[in-house]
Amino acid sequence: MDKKVTVIGAGNVGATAAQRLAEKELCDVVLIDIVEGVPQGKSLDLTEAAPIEKHDAHVTGANSYEASAGSDIVIITAGIPRKPGMSRDDLIGVNAGIVKKVSQEVAKYSPNAVIIVVSNPLDAMCHVAYEASGFPKNRVIGMAGVLDSARFRAFIAMELNVSVENTHAFVLGGHGDTMVPLPRYSTVAGIPITELMSKERIDALVKRTASGGAEIVSLLKTGSAYYAPASAAVEMAESILKDKKKILPCAALLQGEYGFKDLFIGVPVKLGAKGVEQIIEIKLLDEEKTALAKSAAAVEELKGVLKKLA
Ligand code: APR
Repeated sequence: MDKKVTVIGAGNVGATAAQRLAEKELCDVVLIDIVEGVPQGKSLDLTEAAPIEKHDAHVTGANSYEASAGSDIVIITAGIPRKPGMSRDDLIGVNAGIVKKVSQEVAKYSPNAVIIVVSNPLDAMCHVAYEASGFPKNRVIGMAGVLDSARFRAFIAMELNVSVENTHAFVLGGHGDTMVPLPRYSTVAGIPITELMSKERIDALVKRTASGGAEIVSLLKTGSAYYAPASAAVEMAESILKDKKKILPCAALLQGEYGFKDLFIGVPVKLGAKGVEQIIEIKLLDEEKTALAKSAAAVEELKGVLKKLA
C-alpha cells in the first residue's frame, strides 16, 4: 500500500484498529508494543487472515520504533485501560508517562505524521502528545467525539427502530461524564430527534451516551470498550489518508474558538490530509455553552494534574 499507519499499543483497541485498517485496505500497518512477541504475534495472525479476508495490506509488528519510520499516521493506544469503579481520569498518572515517551519516539521517526490519540484520559493525553511531539496543532487529534456520537447514534437507532445509517449525532466537549451531546444537531434522515422523541427519552439516551464507556467497563470487568473505539479511530484515519475532508467531532487544540485557549476539547473539525484543516464553530444555546464550559473546566483541571506530574 502507498500509505503507512503505525498503531502503538497492540492491546484490545490497537489490534482491532490494525485489523480494520488492513481489512479496509487503507494502508500498510505497523503494530508496536512494549511486550515482546505480542505485536509480532498479532500481526502475523492478521497476515494469515489476509488471504481469506482478501486484502493485500502488509501488517508487521515490532517492539522498537525503527519499524514505524515515515508513517503517515500514528494512532496511540498505549497505556492502561480502566477497570470497574475507575474513571478515565484515574488513568492519568500512568498513561501520561507512557504517552509522553511514545510521542517523543513518534516525532523522531515520523516527523510528518498526524497523531491520533486514543489513550485516556483523552483530552489530557492530547496535551501530553502535543507537547512531547512538538507537532503543530493540526497534526495532533484526539479520538472521542466520533465514538461518543456513534454510541448516541446506536441508541437512537435502537429507540426508533431505524437503520443506524439514517442516524447522525453530535457530541461535543471532553471525553468524560461532562461530555455534551447535542440533540438539536442529532438527526434521523435529516429530521432532528427532538421532533421524533419525547424529552424524557432523549434525556435518557443522552445519559446513557455520557456513561457509555462505563457501561461497557462494568460488563467486561477486565478492561474497557475496544470495537467501537477502534472503529472511530479508523474512521478518522480514513478521512486523513484519503483526504476526504469529513467533518467529525474530534478533540482539537482550541486557540480562541468557542472562547477557549490552549485547550484540547471535542469540537467539529474537518479532517483531511493535513489533519485538522478547520474547526467548525456552531452556534450554541446558552445551556449548551454552559455545559461546554463545565466540560472545559474538567479538562483544565486535568491539565493542572499534568503540571504537577511533570
Ligand atoms: N509503549 C508501547 N505499548 C505500551 C506501552 C508503551 N510504553 N505501555 C503499555 N503498552 C501497551 C500494553 O502492553 C498493551 O498491549 O498498550 C497496550 C494497551 O492495551 P490494553 O491493555 O488491551 O488496553 P486497550 O483496551 O487497548 O486500551 C488502550 O485506549 O481506550 C483507551 O482507556 C483506554 O487508555 C486505554 C487505551
